[in-house]
Amino acid sequence: MVQYVNAGVAFVGCGSAAPVGYLDNDDLSRVVDTSDEWIASRTGIRRRHLAAADESLRAIATQAAQNALAMADLTAMDVDLIILATSTADDLFGSASQVQAELGALKAVAFDLTAACSGFVFALVTASQFIQTGVYRNVLVIGADVLSRWVDWGDRRTCVLFGDGAGAVVLQATDEDTQLLGFELRSDGTQNSCLNLAYQPQPKELTDTIGVAQGSFQPLTMNGQEVYRFAVKRVPEVIEKALFRSDLSVDQIDWLLLHQANQRILDAVADRLKIPSQKVLSNMAEYGNTSAASIPLALDEAVRRGDIKPGDAIAAAGFGAGLTWGAAIFRWGKSALRAEISH
Ligand code: UT7
Repeated sequence: MVQYVNAGVAFVGCGSAAPVGYLDNDDLSRVVDTSDEWIASRTGIRRRHLAAADESLRAIATQAAQNALAMADLTAMDVDLIILATSTADDLFGSASQVQAELGALKAVAFDLTAACSGFVFALVTASQFIQTGVYRNVLVIGADVLSRWVDWGDRRTCVLFGDGAGAVVLQATDEDTQLLGFELRSDGTQNSCLNLAYQPQPKELTDTIGVAQGSFQPLTMNGQEVYRFAVKRVPEVIEKALFRSDLSVDQIDWLLLHQANQRILDAVADRLKIPSQKVLSNMAEYGNTSAASIPLALDEAVRRGDIKPGDAIAAAGFGAGLTWGAAIFRWGKSALRAEISH
């Protein structure tokens, strides 16, 4: 195997995809007792894209990955590793290898990673370890979720928040300085009950003495206020720690790219960090909370709009079920990546 020893990590492509179908707040007010006024003022969400019954997680994840590979000027056969961050795989055994097959990335190894709405940041950091230890050169990191399958569409406290989507980035080994400048990942299982999509066992007797559990997953439940408080307190802390490790100050950050859970959380975190609102990326209004997809989806839109430019410093942070949270500071763009790295 070719080794790329002491490689840096470069961000060379991004892509995204979302189902075409969407539900706006007025549509939703005919499903549950809510209103556009309540949803928009409390969350910033105006509509959410929803996967139809014949649309798969695999399909939108693959579309996002293809768009990212095209931007990176790579083919599927160039990919060494695929990490799919998702909590809503089409198959409980994982969907990453399904995406691998659909892409035709036949030389890659693929696996799923589950860390709920922090999944993309966790996957980004995991992928970077494989690059920096010299094992892989081209890595696809995908965040994709179809939470509409698991939301209780009779519960107005949660169903208004979530939408479906996918986003991806291509990371590449470089012999230049690493562009993943610093990170901090955290979890706190003692607060696990704040946000769940839990398996509910149903006892099934096989013999007089042996039984198993054959149940099903129950719809998503959330203690919104607890999660809100957690996010506003914990997210600035990990961003500050990751900035410290990056040797950057807050004012050297060009973009704050948070998990898109609630516009009020985005504003409160920016406020605490003293980051001006024009540096805060948000696509809440269009997509709502797309879980592991939200960060790469917002990143891709900002790159394609031309807002994020090569060399820009981005502070990304995810937070959610687990509870999990984490931040990664990186510079966007490909700079002189093509040289073969020492073997
Ligand atoms: O991605 C995972 C991370 N998740 C999050 O970050 C979510 C964090 N939490 C939040 O974003 C907010 O807590 C929510 C948006 C979920 C809720 O906003 P809130 O300002 O905390 O509302 P609340 O739960 O305190 O509810 C206030 C009122 C309640 O009525 P009463 O008891 O005061 O009469 C709710 O019943 O608003 C009511 N309510 C609604 N009314 C209309 C709750 N949901 C709705 C709704 N439409 N959809």
